Amino acid sequence: MTDPRPLTAGVVGWPITHSKSPRIFEHWFQENGIGGRYCHLAVQDHDFETVMKALPKAGFRGVNVTVPHKLNARRIADSASEVAERMGAANLLIFKESGEIHADNTDGYGFMENLTAGAPDWRPESAPAVVLGAGGATRAVVFALLAKGVPEVRVLNRTKEKSEELTRSFSRKVKALPWEARSDVLFDASLLVNSTSLGMTGSPALEIALDNLPQGAVVTDLVYAPLETDLLAAARERGNRTVDGLGMLLHQARPAFKAWFGVDPVVDEALREICLR
Ligand code: ATR
Repeated sequence: MTDPRPLTAGVVGWPITHSKSPRIFEHWFQENGIGGRYCHLAVQDHDFETVMKALPKAGFRGVNVTVPHKLNARRIADSASEVAERMGAANLLIFKESGEIHADNTDGYGFMENLTAGAPDWRPESAPAVVLGAGGATRAVVFALLAKGVPEVRVLNRTKEKSEELTRSFSRKVKALPWEARSDVLFDASLLVNSTSLGMTGSPALEIALDNLPQGAVVTDLVYAPLETDLLAAARERGNRTVDGLGMLLHQARPAFKAWFGVDPVVDEALREICLR
């Protein structure tokens, strides 16, 4: 029997008005001829659980979850995918017809889809990856890199306690190294990832020397405003392949659309342009 619920979903966060997710979903609705609705849900921490438990009763099919609710989203769900379980965080809630809430985490998936689309020649198993940062985004990146067979992941963060804490939840392939070593640890890397907020419009610059980075290494930045960060520009100028961060946002949304509306949507140039406006 077909699902009788309306084709309704949204993105929940606080603050939320800046989110580009509605643009993404509206584009996909149009492209696939689906009469769906997708809205911003501005929900504060103390209301999160109450609202999530009520939305399935209002016919919602699910929500995307953003800051500051990702940990809570996993906690309040009735079941979780293996990734969400291991990360202890969810960016996607699927409301089943039965009323049950299922948690998933597609951040790492989005990161890897974007990277492999932008750098199809990158060989994950060939050499270590260097990842800057230690927040929630870094955790998703490290998870995805290990799943792809990267032999060693070097995590460097300004606050070393946070990178050490992060590495403890992974295997010994993941190493926490001092932030000051960020230019030195690149010498044999096949991938450099910036998952800090440095380089974002309004944030301080990311200071790093790329002289040691092998020519064949790929450089990617989770920051997508500006689209070409100083890091990506510097890498491109010295001949490294670069992958911007916008695609991660777009690709992480695909599994949500598929789960709620039954279609795997396409990430294309038109969608990128809509998000850059
Ligand atoms: P997310 O969950 O999206 O990863 P976050 O938890 O706010 O976001 O993490 C932001 C990252 O940028 C952190 O790794 C942070 O380093 P700290 O853990 O030391 O705070 C990093 N970051 C932010 N400002 C920075 C700065 N001025 N210098 C170095 N790192 C910075």
